[in-house]
Amino acid sequence: MTHQIELSGVNKYYGTYHALRDIDLRIKKGSFVALVGPSGCGKSTLLRSLAGLESISAGDLVIAGERMNGVPPRKRDLAMVFQSYALYPHMTVEENLTYSLRIRGMKKADARKAAEEVAATTGLSNLLHRYPRELSGGQRQRVAMSRAIIRHPKAFLFDEPLSNLDAALRVHMRKEIRSLHDRLGATSVYVTHDQIEAMTMADHVVVMRQGIIEQQGAPLDLYDRPVNKFVAGFIGSPAMNFIPAEAGVDNQTLVLDLGTRQTIRIGREVPDGRKLIVGLRPEHLMPVSEDQAMLRLPVGSVENTGATTYIATATNPELILMLNGRLPVRPGDTIPIAFDPAHLHLFDAESEMRLDILDA
Ligand SMILES: Nc1ncnc2c1ncn2[C@@H]1O[C@H](COP(=O)(O)OP(=O)(O)OP(=O)(O)O)[C@@H](O)[C@H]1O
Ligand SMILES: [Mg+2]
Repeated sequence: MTHQIELSGVNKYYGTYHALRDIDLRIKKGSFVALVGPSGCGKSTLLRSLAGLESISAGDLVIAGERMNGVPPRKRDLAMVFQSYALYPHMTVEENLTYSLRIRGMKKADARKAAEEVAATTGLSNLLHRYPRELSGGQRQRVAMSRAIIRHPKAFLFDEPLSNLDAALRVHMRKEIRSLHDRLGATSVYVTHDQIEAMTMADHVVVMRQGIIEQQGAPLDLYDRPVNKFVAGFIGSPAMNFIPAEAGVDNQTLVLDLGTRQTIRIGREVPDGRKLIVGLRPEHLMPVSEDQAMLRLPVGSVENTGATTYIATATNPELILMLNGRLPVRPGDTIPIAFDPAHLHLFDAESEMRLDILDA
């Protein structure tokens, strides 16, 4: 298996601030990897360390089989695409594209040919003579991408490249970047704080918090088997519901604390004698007929977007239910709810780590 990028035991300090902690990450050639996590968790620091814009304090960084610690950015052969596209305003699209080739001494005719080839891939052929101010946000983004592509880098590094665009264009550009990645057979590392963007674009998602990789894996694996409460709450929208709980008397039941205590039977053994947190995703809580009810929940508020109904319960903590279509319920009603016990996530309340007891 070829890894295009390998980080082992990477640590980064800014003065005394420990920004990256023991990062181990292997990125396969041709894969699209997303780094996600809340603001300040170290995503940009990790990307900039890859690029060589930050020096790492400890650990090893290998790109295409070569140890890169201390190698200056321009010799790493990586292309970085930022959120501000940093196009040269006084240069045309073509000049922006060919600038890096020209300063390396490529002949003008060859550079022009390279620009035309890349522009054909990215749909900029008719815009080569324009200046950045004469382009839309999406077109500028494509110029920034093209400028990276033209150098045939070993990998593309993206730092929130879409966050300046409006919602509709962002969704469009996600697809465009991913399909460009596929066509070029590129290796891409993509930083975003938007977990939906990460889930929809990447083959491999890395969830970070406070300089640590909390979990990494295929998008749906993270969704289905989050290793802790943080990842469980971070991945998925609306977020997973969390309910304090403990084992019931016979160890096949859970007592949920929803302001009032509700006992549910889950048909498998529940660890006894410690405080637990139950996780249930909004789409897994389903209204059922009275005789199938596992829980009876008072309705607090109802939001209907047409295709989807969101119900917030009048419990403590509040739970969110998400249903396809419409449900004729109102605040004050009580609805019978059931869920498949296979969809119940269980965490230790103290460590917040996943308990696998239920995944027999
Ligand atoms: N040059 C610096 N000197 C000192 N601290 C820094 C420096 N650059 C970043 N930091 C700190 O390191 C941490 C990680 O920053 P980083 O920019 O990597 O976060 P991020 O995950 O990209 O966040 P965001 O989503 O807001 O862009 C933050 O707490 C930040 O304040
Ligand atoms: Mg950042």
